[in-house]
Amino acid sequence: MPRKSCGRVCCRGLYSCHWETKLREDHPGKHACCGFSVVLLVSLLSLCWMYICLVTFNDQEDVNWEGFKMLKRWVNFFMLGIIVSAVLTSYCVLLLLIALFHVAIGEKLDLHWFHMIFLSLGVLFIASGLTGISLKWKQEWPTVPLSLQATGPFLQFGAVVALTLLSPLVFRCFLRSKNAGCKVLIALVFVVISAAIFLCPLLIHSPCLLSELPEKPKLIGHRGAPMKAPENTIMAFNRSVECGVTAFETDVQLSKDRIPFLMHDNGSDFLLRTTNVKQKFPDTHFSHSANLTWEELQSLNAGEWFVETDPFHTVRQLSEDEKKAAQNQSIPSLLQLLNLAKEHNISVIFDLYSPDQENDTNDTVRTILSSGIDPSLILWLPPDERDAVSLAAPGFIQVYNNLKEMLNKRGTHLNMKYSKLSTEEIRELRSHNKTVNLWVVNEPWLFSLLWCAGASSVTTNSCHLLRDMERPSWVMSPLQYRIAWTVVDAVAFLLMTALFIVQRTTHSHSREKEKRGDNTSAWNELMPFLPTV
Ligand SMILES: *[C@@H]1O[C@H](CO)[C@@H](O)[C@H](O)[C@H]1NC(C)=O
Ligand SMILES: *[C@@H]1O[C@H](CO)[C@@H](O)[C@H](O)[C@H]1NC(C)=O
Ligand SMILES: *[C@@H]1O[C@H](CO)[C@@H](O)[C@H](O)[C@H]1NC(C)=O
Ligand SMILES: *[C@@H]1O[C@H](CO)[C@@H](O)[C@H](O)[C@H]1NC(C)=O
Repeated sequence: MPRKSCGRVCCRGLYSCHWETKLREDHPGKHACCGFSVVLLVSLLSLCWMYICLVTFNDQEDVNWEGFKMLKRWVNFFMLGIIVSAVLTSYCVLLLLIALFHVAIGEKLDLHWFHMIFLSLGVLFIASGLTGISLKWKQEWPTVPLSLQATGPFLQFGAVVALTLLSPLVFRCFLRSKNAGCKVLIALVFVVISAAIFLCPLLIHSPCLLSELPEKPKLIGHRGAPMKAPENTIMAFNRSVECGVTAFETDVQLSKDRIPFLMHDNGSDFLLRTTNVKQKFPDTHFSHSANLTWEELQSLNAGEWFVETDPFHTVRQLSEDEKKAAQNQSIPSLLQLLNLAKEHNISVIFDLYSPDQENDTNDTVRTILSSGIDPSLILWLPPDERDAVSLAAPGFIQVYNNLKEMLNKRGTHLNMKYSKLSTEEIRELRSHNKTVNLWVVNEPWLFSLLWCAGASSVTTNSCHLLRDMERPSWVMSPLQYRIAWTVVDAVAFLLMTALFIVQRTTHSHSREKEKRGDNTSAWNELMPFLPTV
């Protein structure tokens, strides 16, 4: 007779909605087993999905930007997605824990249809997320294997612990099953999975398994310090100076009267996200930087949007004065930025969005040369007129965003998205004294990985976080890691062996009692969903 403890009843109530204690049927059948498998699979799926969400957090802006292009409104879709995923994952894992608890105390496993519906919705949500990434955000996939170089060792330790904790249940299955084929199958699956978990460190390669740590990468402020002030405003660049950046990253376009100014969005979204253009010019749609004169651009406010939409959830960290200053920003000219760079001896790197390639490049180069800035502070990135620019301004440093082009032109500076180069390639390039900058790197785990790989610098939104890091999140020498995982594996193996021996002894005792007609053994109540063959 099952006892009627409170924990048991609650647990059963949550899982199957049977609050009453029912006598167990002798053949609980496939139903329970099926429910348990569903819970287990969906839990694993949701954990993987949560992992993907967390490692793609570094690029959350991409998602929100896609949303903005569709809705013309800034909504933090990524955060919404993460919250829904976190709720879903917690629910699945809780259900799994309850199911395991059921198994451990020998309660009947009957998944309520209500949970089935929720789990199905969860699977649908995850499936649409995965499809969405594959269709619209393919370039994000390489981040997932890359992240394993940072998390792999710890995921393996976690998997070993989970395996050890679950092993008693598997052993119990194994001992209770009376069919030899079933026994062999359980043993085989368990041994294969255990071996894979125990030995996967042989496949883990991380740049942070190293003996000598390279120099910390320099920081480049992505449109200034966009978490501390509205992007591409003088305030944002001033905040990035406080972070100790070695270069300003920005975006240049030319006005109707040929003044280079700083603005990222271009094309049909020009000015919509970061200025009050809709209020100032309600009836006009600008799609072109040359639609407005410098004076008209100056009349726009380029900071209010930041306080209103709070794109990085950082506005509450600002003081009242900082908020006021942020709300009073206007669009800066390139010349203003060059003066700031000159004053602080900081480099400038920018994208040029230009409908009129040749003239725009010429006017930009002329502005730079006449500003009096040291030409070696200019990291010239726009590829289209590179040869002409090299002639007109030989002092500029040519930066390539394409590895082949850099090698062809015997360049020394490379600027790439972080996921476009493997950590081995970064190491290789650095050993040939090439300067490698990677964008956009916001999360400490990613920064750590690139630091270990030896990157020269990273373009970042979160210079205030990365500035304070004195070491990567973790570094281990290869020998230390080998010792660590061998010890963890060995301890887990010994524990599991001990558990198996204890369980086998207890099992054979209870079998003897059973033969003597004494049928009160607790073991009988365990693993109710196992087919009794
Ligand atoms: C903006 O410039 C484009 C290209 O020169 C032109 O076709 C369009 O009419 C202009 N729009 C406005 C509102 O001036
Ligand atoms: C900033 O404040 C000054 C003084 O109040 C005002 O004249 C100016 O228009 C403001 N600029 C912006 C972009 O709001
Ligand atoms: C500017 O910084 C560079 C290194 O980033 C240094 O070599 C140079 O001496 C500095 N120039 C001045 C004027 O401080
Ligand atoms: C890279 O630079 C270092 C020091 O400046 C030098 O010793 C080394 O030979 C260079 N390596 C290559 C491949 O040029």
